[in-house]
Amino acid sequence: MRVCRDCCCGTQEKHPGVDHDGLLARLEVGAGAHARVLRSGCLLACDESNVVVVTPSPGGRRAGARPVWLRAVLDETTTDAISEWVRRGGPGVASIPPALVSRVFVPSGIALEWAPA
Ligand code: FES
Repeated sequence: MRVCRDCCCGTQEKHPGVDHDGLLARLEVGAGAHARVLRSGCLLACDESNVVVVTPSPGGRRAGARPVWLRAVLDETTTDAISEWVRRGGPGVASIPPALVSRVFVPSGIALEWAPA
């Protein structure tokens, strides 16, 4: 998965009081060996920050899944839901946790071009 950390995502200027480093560490520990957590430069979706893109596993891709873009990943509940999802197999394998449904968004075409799966 890609965790955006750039001009807006992960900054105190845009999201004061959020423990961005703590949430990233929590995500890395929570995902464990089930997903690589990569830090990304700006994904051109700053209005949705903090943005996380959950990419499907090979099995998920074979099932037709595409990367799932999540907005406003700013708290432990959301971070833990992402971890739980990838531990269960992620997009295309396991259903999305209810806590994440409202956070899914479709990025602009420019963002998709900039950050292809
Ligand atoms: S800094 Fe994350 S989308 Fe721009």
